[in-house]
Amino acid sequence: MDLKLILTDVLKSQVLHSMSSEEIYAMIETPKFSHLGDLAFPCFQLAKHMKKAPPLIAKEVAETLHSSYFSKVEAVGPYVNIKFNSETTGKEIISELLSNGKQFGTHTFGRDKTIVLDMSSPNIAKPFSMGHLRSTVIGNSLATIAEKCGFTSVKINYIGDWGTQFGKLIVAYKKWGDPQKVKENPIGELFTLYKKFHHEAEEDPSLEEEGRKSFKLLEDGDEEITALWKWFKDESLKAFKDIYALLGIEFDSYNGEAFFNDKMEEIVELLQAQQLLETSQGAKVVRIEDENIPPCLIKKSDGATLYATRDLAAALYRQREYSFDEALYVVGHEQTIHFKQVKKVLEKLGYNWAEHMKHIPFGLYLKEGKKMSTRKGRVILLQDVLKEAIDMAEENIKLKNPNLKDAKKVAKDVGVGAIIFHDLKSDRLNDIEFSLENMLTFEGETGPYVQYTYARTQSLLRKAGVSTPFTFDGLDDAASWEVIKQLRLFPEIVEKAWKNYAPSIIAKYLVDTAQSFNSYYGKTKIISQDASLPSRLALVHAVASVLSEGLGLLGMNTPSEM
Ligand code: ARG
Repeated sequence: MDLKLILTDVLKSQVLHSMSSEEIYAMIETPKFSHLGDLAFPCFQLAKHMKKAPPLIAKEVAETLHSSYFSKVEAVGPYVNIKFNSETTGKEIISELLSNGKQFGTHTFGRDKTIVLDMSSPNIAKPFSMGHLRSTVIGNSLATIAEKCGFTSVKINYIGDWGTQFGKLIVAYKKWGDPQKVKENPIGELFTLYKKFHHEAEEDPSLEEEGRKSFKLLEDGDEEITALWKWFKDESLKAFKDIYALLGIEFDSYNGEAFFNDKMEEIVELLQAQQLLETSQGAKVVRIEDENIPPCLIKKSDGATLYATRDLAAALYRQREYSFDEALYVVGHEQTIHFKQVKKVLEKLGYNWAEHMKHIPFGLYLKEGKKMSTRKGRVILLQDVLKEAIDMAEENIKLKNPNLKDAKKVAKDVGVGAIIFHDLKSDRLNDIEFSLENMLTFEGETGPYVQYTYARTQSLLRKAGVSTPFTFDGLDDAASWEVIKQLRLFPEIVEKAWKNYAPSIIAKYLVDTAQSFNSYYGKTKIISQDASLPSRLALVHAVASVLSEGLGLLGMNTPSEM
């Protein structure tokens, strides 16, 4: 039951007959201060049409509106403020929530539609960076939200395992590599070799040429080089999978760039056949009519393919394999031009589905205001961050709850949760200043704060010793009504988070919900033996259900004690 919907119906049937429900619904606002009312209807937009001043319209509307759901309707300036009858309305809201359980907030508008998400996609032989963390957790959350909206989601980890850099790495390994060292610390050692290559190449440019040649050999399937590449890849994947296990994230596909090595010719031929390929300094390019977008490089002068060539082949493959309704690329904003190029080229080839490809960019993690660069060594390793967060959570448990069962598991849920939440609560496009300290505060607007609130609900329910079913018969205090109104927003929040591809909307909502519950908890003795006890416990249960479902949409676990 949606309060806005009730108000919409009443407004439509009693005053705004000629407007559509969607229009009315979209106009309804939530007042800044709850003492003004639960909802407000602004009359500005009606003024032009009705040729009257908004305050006058508000007064007339307020005099006309009536419903058993409302306890007060009042014109304040250009607004009509509406207060709902909290007892009866609250009863309907909570009963509906409780009877739907985990289904509360679920939508059907995504039914029979498939969303493909290109996400995480780290590069082998390089450390898993904080940037890849963003793509991983944002992508995972969007996939979970998509499922909640009824879509089928396909999570693709498009591993960066192809390209000239692997030619360079192989040259470096052959010149300076030590197999034993690589076995002991694959990613660290390979990355060191890669950095050494760049260093040496500054003195000796012929190395670059060697690197290009050895990538060409890899593309042509040279046995020795392929075996080395495969070894590097297997070792890297092992390390990445440890991280995914910690984060609790699984993928539907690991088809990375190399998977498309034998699938690019088709794209090149299609472009050729439609006379879209031009030669520019020996390379093959597709010119794009937009002045702001440089030509898309398809083949280098030595015939080697490029990042864009592989993305073109991958898009075509995914459309055939999944017939997606939408393909999201969760990738940092520094690749905006690349995705514009890929999309334009596919459009030129006449593929209408290209319009459903969307780049979902996000900001960078900065270190002292500067971009973190792998080459310059200003890089922070996710593995270290995760470990530190879990250790801190464990310390905290030792201090506050030394007898906690499963302390290790809880520390993992809380430490990892802190990092996920810190990432998802900020608006996707903002850069985030990297600060372990901020990430690991377990107070304020943080993941652990919301998890802690959930644990509090569980401890209340344990103390009360109740088992389901819960019945809610209405509560008449103002604090509980605030909690109820907050809970009924959940379905709307889920929809909004999806439509804006913004997990941050859910993260912020959960902080608000936790705050509103904690303020109720501070004002009310929940476990006291009176007639309203079952209703209070039912409300606690409803809060728990929304918090755990919401945190789940962000990819976080909810320990029942911490
Ligand atoms: N591996 C790339 C990187 O780390 C990201 C790949 C993004 N996805 C894509 N389809 N291009 O920069």
